[in-house]
Amino acid sequence: MVAGVAQALGLLAAVLRADGISEIAVEEPGSLGTRQHLRHGGLVTPPVPVDGDGIRVDALRSPAVLVTPAHQFPTGVVLGGERRRELMRWDGLIVEDDYDAEHRYDRPPVPALRAMLPERVVYAGSISKLLAPALRIGWMLVPARYQRDLVDAKRYADLGNAVLPQLVLGYLMASGELERHLRFLRRRHRQRRDAMIAALSRHLPDARVHGAAAGLHLMITFDARLSDVDLAVAVLAEGVKVQPLSWHRQLPGEPGLVLGYGARSPGEIEEGVRIIAEVRRSAP
Ligand SMILES: Cc1ncc(COP(=O)(O)O)c(C=O)c1O
Repeated sequence: MVAGVAQALGLLAAVLRADGISEIAVEEPGSLGTRQHLRHGGLVTPPVPVDGDGIRVDALRSPAVLVTPAHQFPTGVVLGGERRRELMRWDGLIVEDDYDAEHRYDRPPVPALRAMLPERVVYAGSISKLLAPALRIGWMLVPARYQRDLVDAKRYADLGNAVLPQLVLGYLMASGELERHLRFLRRRHRQRRDAMIAALSRHLPDARVHGAAAGLHLMITFDARLSDVDLAVAVLAEGVKVQPLSWHRQLPGEPGLVLGYGARSPGEIEEGVRIIAEVRRSAP
């Protein structure tokens, strides 16, 4: 048990460095947050492009890779069947961030890579997208050769996660409450996602929408030349918090925004998208 995927990556970085691994490829675009944790842990993070089938396995040159196969962050792409098989044939260490695997709206969740390759995959997940990130409860399943070093790293980091929140989580799982909560969330998130898609087509018809089949956010991209960082800053000044897509890139690419819908009502989402469109129209 670890304090979220963030801590999993920090502990893993230290263990990999001690094992002579100094770099881990990451998806491009890919999560700024996870990249920061790996870098803070001393690993280099070369970018590997993501296309419509997920990460381009043929472009992998590093001894390890961090992937979000169930729902790529931030594009929302699911790792395609053939790409998945290609990744499983690849001979490096795969780090699987299953960050929001439960939140699929179109079909049952995709099975984890870890289930097929327990000795080649480090699996990390958390309840951040299911209950609350502030609880800081996550887990790792690791190949036997790293288990002892990771347990040591966790021990020296903090002597272990607080037990009370884990007991509460255990109770929620055993009583069926967690499953009920997930069913409730799926319904609510789907309504919120639909509200966001409708608001985008009303107010920002030129924005391309990506990743609607799963998750708690949509990614939008623009053909136009604009600074998505400036747009996000201007939108924040009007009380709406979004992330610029360029935060999640290491290489140049289309501008865009990452828009979370999990924590807002349909009315708030409509208003937020309207404000983004208004700010964009009035941008110099
Ligand atoms: C794709 C992705 N995975 C995992 C995390 C970390 O989540 P947590 O540490 O709350 O489990 C983040 C947040 O930065 C993220 O963007």
